[in-house]
Amino acid sequence: MSNVAVIGAQWGDEGKGKIVDWLSSRADVVVRFQGGHNAGHTLVIDGVEYKLSLLPSGIVRPGKLSVIGNGVVIDPAHLLSEIDLLRSQGAEISPESLLVSENAALILPVHKAIDAAREAMRGDAKIGTTGRGIGPAYEDKIARRAVRLGDLASEDTLLEKLTALAVHHNVWLAAGGHDLVDAGQMKDDLLAMRDAIMAYAGQSWRALEQARDQGQKVLFEGAQGVMLDIDHGTYPFVTSSNTVAGQAATGSGTGPTSIGFVLGITKAYTTRVGSGPFPTEDFGDDGTRMGERGREFGTVTGRKRRCGWFDAVMVRQANAVAGITGMALTKLDVLDGFDVLKICVGYRLEQADGHVVELDHFPADARAQAACTPIYEEMPGWHESTQGAREWAGLPANAVKYIRRLEELTRTPVTLVSTSPERDDTILMRDPFVG
Ligand code: GDP
Ligand code: IMO
Ligand code: MG
Repeated sequence: MSNVAVIGAQWGDEGKGKIVDWLSSRADVVVRFQGGHNAGHTLVIDGVEYKLSLLPSGIVRPGKLSVIGNGVVIDPAHLLSEIDLLRSQGAEISPESLLVSENAALILPVHKAIDAAREAMRGDAKIGTTGRGIGPAYEDKIARRAVRLGDLASEDTLLEKLTALAVHHNVWLAAGGHDLVDAGQMKDDLLAMRDAIMAYAGQSWRALEQARDQGQKVLFEGAQGVMLDIDHGTYPFVTSSNTVAGQAATGSGTGPTSIGFVLGITKAYTTRVGSGPFPTEDFGDDGTRMGERGREFGTVTGRKRRCGWFDAVMVRQANAVAGITGMALTKLDVLDGFDVLKICVGYRLEQADGHVVELDHFPADARAQAACTPIYEEMPGWHESTQGAREWAGLPANAVKYIRRLEELTRTPVTLVSTSPERDDTILMRDPFVG
């Protein structure tokens, strides 16, 4: 089976959008399977920038089917505005090119309000969410009270479900002194969008079944990254979905054997946006330089991303838990001009009795995660430019050594290298669709 799942291997923003867009020339169908419009995927095509949050990154290529799977949480108003935005940039979006799963749960204004209220309550301990209602929407899904896209078809069902939802949430909102939500208002707002949205509604499982029958290639596009996964990430500083490749099956309505190659998108250094542990974060000149050269500002919230060195312990663990077949190493060009590059190869952790232990993995406990200090290995950098390189042979010798060392430490081959935001500034060593 020659399908490919692309997932982030760190804390998101690894460059998934660029790689999915590039690989989508080889695919027939591109599928989002988790997350929502908390994602921010940037594509740069001939100097024009496209920012996608909910639409699959294949949407800019004519002739491809884009699918928003059942595992995604959908803000209907955002979906329509993103469709309009992409259309204004020239993308052709129609019910022939976009399918939205009818059993996907909706994000409603109440979820956004709860997200904001909770973050405010947490104060300094806030998660640093994108504020888009992702967590509360997934909670409602798991609690079996979500409104799903298909519910828009019946006004009665919609009102019944929204009434139950309002009763549930208003207890908490009232207790906290927040504005209450009104089921009738939510229903009217949803009905006003109904025709525009329902034009795209359908069954993602069927689209994938048809793709299989016709021997088409499917590209599954992950959002966030393994360290933001609800189970495997830096809990509680995570998002509210599984971000690992296994979710591609559940979140779109196909089986695990449909996912062939798992491509882990890995930045040549590390960034994180929002709160939570980040052992290799660099607060000095090196981190500042990475942020400036890499233009590390969040696509969704505009927040400055925290920057630091490559953490080979974490990426090795991410690759193991997500079953990553090969890595796409992105933003190599950002490391041009550093005299020395550091790679984290282990952690030191002080125990309660004062004894210091060395760890070869990232612990699950939040306190331990926050207390881990990195053990670094150093490598010489390179002063030549890798920016825009499209040939492996054109890379400086020290850049090749750096990549080889990352492969050894993470026990995973680098199968693709990215050297600029532009679509075609990419070096392919092994085509994931071929396996
Ligand atoms: P995503 O969320 O994983 O899709 O990543 P984002 O789009 O949020 O952030 C990645 C940023 O890096 C975007 O601004 C991309 O245009 C940019 N980018 C992607 N690959 C490269 C690369 O190889 N080099 C440089 N310099 N920028 C890149
Ligand atoms: P892409 O797909 C980076 C982070 C938020 C916060 C945490 C929880 O562009 O890589 P949420 O709103 O999901 O409840 O926030 O997760 N986060 C991301 N960080 N890239 C993303 O997506 C992210 N999506 C969520 O900053 O720390
Ligand atoms: Mg992003």
